[in-house]
Formats: sequence, structure tokens, C-alpha cells
Amino acid sequence: MRRKWFILAAALLLMMVMGASPVFAKTVLKLGTSTQPTHIYNQAAEYFGKLVADRTGGDIEVQVFPASQLGSERDMVEGLQLGTLEMTLTSTGPMGNFVPQVKLFNLPFLFKDRESCYRVLDGEIGTQIADRFPAVGIRSLGWFENGFRNITNSKRPINTPEDMAGLKIRVMEDDVFILTMKALGASPLPMAFGELYTALEQKTVDAQENPLAVIHSSRFFEVQKHLAMTGHFYSPAVLLISDIAWKTLSPEQQKILTEAAAEARDYERQISLKADQELEAACAREGMEVTNPDKAPFAAAVASVYTEPSVVKAIGGGDAEAGQK
Ligand code: PAF
Repeated sequence: MRRKWFILAAALLLMMVMGASPVFAKTVLKLGTSTQPTHIYNQAAEYFGKLVADRTGGDIEVQVFPASQLGSERDMVEGLQLGTLEMTLTSTGPMGNFVPQVKLFNLPFLFKDRESCYRVLDGEIGTQIADRFPAVGIRSLGWFENGFRNITNSKRPINTPEDMAGLKIRVMEDDVFILTMKALGASPLPMAFGELYTALEQKTVDAQENPLAVIHSSRFFEVQKHLAMTGHFYSPAVLLISDIAWKTLSPEQQKILTEAAAEARDYERQISLKADQELEAACAREGMEVTNPDKAPFAAAVASVYTEPSVVKAIGGGDAEAGQK
């Protein structure tokens, strides 16, 4: 017992000598993303972390780990369920495997513009879907933005759906994306984002699709010649926290996180819009040949995805297994 007191006193003395304040209550929330440090997710995550640190007087520290350091988007969501990771900012790409109804947001050509996306995501539908998350061990702190997705490839300019024929294209790991690319006549290959640059470089795949902010920050212009502004999916993102971590926070801390997340979401949507306005030209400056195809024939070619039985079942209230086929 005496020995214990002695060690504690020595530790306090050491902290005082070294100028450190003896703060025991600090909570660290690790937040993982899949994208490069300069990407909008990480700018928003840092912004969120700063708000949280300021408003909790430094009691909560958000540590951001970009570039798939903590695993793929799907791995990170599983980490939240297990309690091995506290937070992630992820696209909805893998989310249908956890809450099948999220697939609704993955449908091609669902939204015509950002305003309609925000109305749905921040309104009743977005709230009802997010309310399903705690049942699988995660909580949403808000719908963020990945953005409208465009196609890049190393083979040829894309102007019509026919130009997609036979292209080996990497897609996110969900059947909605696979079905969409099949409907366009391409050969989809589901793959974690962390493996994508190498797959494009080594020509294991010819093509990929992502928002401009991802294409530019990942330097895909180094390995892809053609960029087609198809905007075929609006890709939402979601800021998630592990239910295990959430329950360790006080109601006051939970309120601070919720409010900071709403501000970080608005900030991220602004920088995402700015990225869309600036990065088409920036990709062209890096040597990409950009096409702006008429979207109507693409939308018509993928209409069948909306009536695909596995998709209808998942969105209409099926279980998670429906999402894994
Ligand atoms: O293509 C993907 O997997 C996603 O769009 C990405 C880049 C990980 C961002 O969420």
C-alpha cells in the first residue's frame, strides 16, 4: 500500500517538474478515414476535432487517421461495432452491409442536385435510416458528403454508355454499384479503396469512379488518362461513432459532439462544392482528357437497378444478408 502511494506521489512530482498538468479525464477518440490527408473528409474531421477540443476544454481529443491506416471503410465500421475504433467518416458504400436501407442512397441518378440530397438526408428519410444504426452498434452524427461520382479510365474517352463496354471498373463493395456497372456493359470488380491506386497503376483494372475531390487528392491523373463527368451516383458520407464509445461519454459531452458534427458537416459540404467547382479544370491541367457526356442515356441504361429484387428487398426492409449477395 505504502509502495503504491509512493509511486503515485513520484508520478505527480515528475509531471509537475516536467510542466505537465495532471489531467486524468482525457478521452481520445480515434477517427479513421480511407482518403488522403488533403481530402475533404480529413479537413472536416480536423475541423470537428478542433471544435470538440475547444468546447470540452481539451478533455476530448479527436485523433484523425487518414489513408486507410486503420483499414478499409468496411473494416472501420466493423471496428466501431467491436469497440476497437471510436469513429469513422465513411461513404455509404459499405453501409448497406450493416443497415440494408442505406442502399437507397446508393441508387444511380437518384438525386438531381445537392439541395435535393440535403433535403432527403437531413429530413425524415435520412433520420429514419440513421435511427437504425444503434441496433447494429454504431451511431450517426450526421450525413456528410463524398460527392457526385465520375468515371476515370486508361482506355478511351467516355461519351455514351456504349463506350463503357467491357471496361474493367473498380466499384465499392455493394451490389447496387455492381448492378449499375453491369447495366452499363462494364465488368465491375469490388475492391477496397486502399488497393485501388496500385490496381490502376498495374492495370489490374482499367477504370474507377469517384468524386473529383477523391480523384484529385488521390492523384489518379497519374494513372488514368480519361475523365468523364457522368455524376452517376451521389455518394453521401456519414460520420459514425461506436455505440460503445458513445455510452462512455457524459450527456454534456454527447451534446458537444452532436453540435460540433453538425457544424463540421456544413463546413464539409461547402469545401466539397468548392472542390467540384475547381477540380475538373485542375484534373485537365494535370493532363486528363475530360468529357461531359449527356447523362440521359446513362440514366436510362441503369433504370433496371431500381427494380432488381435484391435491391428492392434491402431497401424495403430486408435484413443485412440481402446486402451481402
Ligand atoms: O471509392 C470509395 O471507396 C469511396 O468513395 C472513398 C474514396 C473511400 C471515399 O469514401
